[in-house]
Amino acid sequence: MGARRAPRGPLVLAAAAAPLAACAGLGARFAEEELWLAEPVAWEEVAPVFERRCAPCHADPPLAGATFALRAYGEVAPWVERVRVRVLVQGDMPPGGLQDPEERDLLARWLAQGAQGPAGAEAGAEAGAGAEAGASAGASAGASAGASGGAAPAAPTWDGAVKPLFDLYCNTCHAPTPTGGAPFPLTTYAEAAPFLARFEVRVLERMDMPPGGVRDAGDLATLEAWLRAGGPER
Ligand code: HEC
Ligand code: HEC
Repeated sequence: MGARRAPRGPLVLAAAAAPLAACAGLGARFAEEELWLAEPVAWEEVAPVFERRCAPCHADPPLAGATFALRAYGEVAPWVERVRVRVLVQGDMPPGGLQDPEERDLLARWLAQGAQGPAGAEAGAEAGAGAEAGASAGASAGASAGASGGAAPAAPTWDGAVKPLFDLYCNTCHAPTPTGGAPFPLTTYAEAAPFLARFEVRVLERMDMPPGGVRDAGDLATLEAWLRAGGPER
């Protein structure tokens, strides 16, 4: 059988919004992944996705049981973290899931980069995934968005402080339908437990998962304490 060579270089950029090639080696995939993540996504690029997939219900006034609009950036910004959870983690918004892989990847990349506002305006600085602001701000800063907000857990557990960190740092890609080239979901303890040793390597040692590393020092410390304790569920 003909060995199928994965295209490299500019082709990768051209294909950045598409699902990543299946047969490339892990190293190559990681290189592609870095490009995937690095290529900036502007609000103007994701706005049509909201218009097409969300605004049929999240209009002004909202329809079909939705309770707010999701068209203008100012309407989306307060919901960025919930958008990430519902679209990428739970996969139930829009109802039935966001099926188009290019739209999924575009949205995932935009969220992972911090959900930029129109024309490069400083966007949801604290809106979720990309917050690089509070690197030294201490333990509670990064987790406050969607988490249970415990500040200094002595022995973190999956059910406690850790699951929200996976939702924040990992499940943009390691979603129920993995995106951005991630090989498997990491949304439940059962899914994560087989990979504890790999988390030590990728999150703590190489610091390349998520790509670019966990940037909040407090969150990283929580993950480290959890792994050092053997990754307890509860
Ligand atoms: C067919 C109608 C419909 C479409 C299309 C739709 N939604 Fe919703 N959405 C709803 C309804 C109804 C609710 C309230 C019930 C619920 O939360 O499930 C809701 C609630 C939400 C919430 C708030 C609930 C929470 O978990 O905090 C978010 C965020 C959301 N939708 C995001 C989106 C996004 C993003 C899209 C497009 C990618 C989208 N929705 C598309 C009907 C829709
Ligand atoms: C932006 C997308 C993205 C995010 C966010 C992300 N990953 Fe990944 N992950 C990937 C891709 C792509 C691969 C496959 C290529 C590779 O291994 O580098 C992967 C592979 C992995 C692997 C399997 C490879 C191995 O070395 O065993 C583990 C484990 C992993 N990720 C853990 C995590 C954890 C834990 C987080 C959050 C702390 C995370 N990832 C966040 C994209 C992502």
